[in-house]
Amino acid sequence: MANARILVSDPLAEEGLVILKEAFTVDVKTDLKEDELCGVIGEYDALIVRSGTEVTAKVITAGKKLRFIGRAGVGVDNVDVDAATRQGVIVANAPEGNTLAATEHTMAMMLSLARNIPQANASLKKKEWKRSKFMGVELNEKTLGIVGFGRIGREVAKRANAMDMKCVAYDPFISKERAAQLGVRVMSLAELFTVADVITVHTPLIKETKHVINAKSIATMKDGVRIINCARGGIIDEAALVDAIKSGKVAGAALDVFETEPPLESPLLSLDNVIVTPHLGASTVEAQKNVAIQVAKQCVEVLNGGSAKYV
Ligand code: NAD
Ligand code: MLT
Repeated sequence: MANARILVSDPLAEEGLVILKEAFTVDVKTDLKEDELCGVIGEYDALIVRSGTEVTAKVITAGKKLRFIGRAGVGVDNVDVDAATRQGVIVANAPEGNTLAATEHTMAMMLSLARNIPQANASLKKKEWKRSKFMGVELNEKTLGIVGFGRIGREVAKRANAMDMKCVAYDPFISKERAAQLGVRVMSLAELFTVADVITVHTPLIKETKHVINAKSIATMKDGVRIINCARGGIIDEAALVDAIKSGKVAGAALDVFETEPPLESPLLSLDNVIVTPHLGASTVEAQKNVAIQVAKQCVEVLNGGSAKYV
């Protein structure tokens, strides 16, 4: 389909654009509001997004020629997949390319949380020298509870094991044997909450995982637990987390993702023992190159009559 037109509506690494441009006509138009996107989408055969574009049912309906929606990343929660399916539009993602980037970000967040590195950095840059204020904790021998033992959860476990943490995991779709091979004990979610010193979530945001960390589950956790979310906003009930941090039940949290992004009005931003990054889990040169190439190849394949590997 040599005359196909592709709209790229979020920043995509050059390596992906090159693949698309070799095959088709490509326009890059970022930061479009829903109505602006609806106004132009009718001209295109494919749409490529990252997480910035909300591909709503309205956008899909306006995409009269659309055959393919590609997500350069894992989560397709910004794409109305049901609406696309109803209209016969193939949705494909690039789930493997940013696994290590998100894993390394999780490890960086866990170490930063344990040693107050962002707070200490900010303090010293204000010309303060407060060594006792930033007393940390060791991760060695601590129990890491991993909720969601997929690609990222497993890579996190490998690295945490190398740091002599004890890893436990909950995932309804993982076998005990498979986890044991990676040195991880599988248990119920309720048990994980009671034994973990640090909890990190690596699930998609679906109805079963929405607010899985909430006031009730936090009450069952160890006093002084630390919580990390580099997966999806909404897995943690942020209001409950704020309360638990204020009360001291939760010693700290490291968050890369939020219920509303950007979370500029969130009370989480004013809590000293909450460290935050602006959805940077996949933001490495390597990951962006990987996902751009993966999604571009799938786009070319589908528009040329083939099928997508990941949907
Ligand atoms: P994955 O599909 O490989 O793993 C997800 C795991 O969650 C699966 O093993 C699945 O069985 C498990 N799961 C499903 N329902 C569950 C439930 N109710 N309770 C517990 N586990 C459940 O995905 P992944 O590549 O490991 O990504 C994990 C999450 O990280 C996704 O939400 C993804 O969008 C997100 N992510 C975020 C960033 C970022 O920039 N912060 C980057 C990459 C991925
Ligand atoms: C993902 O699901 O892949 C991440 O949220 C990273 C991204 O923003 O692309």
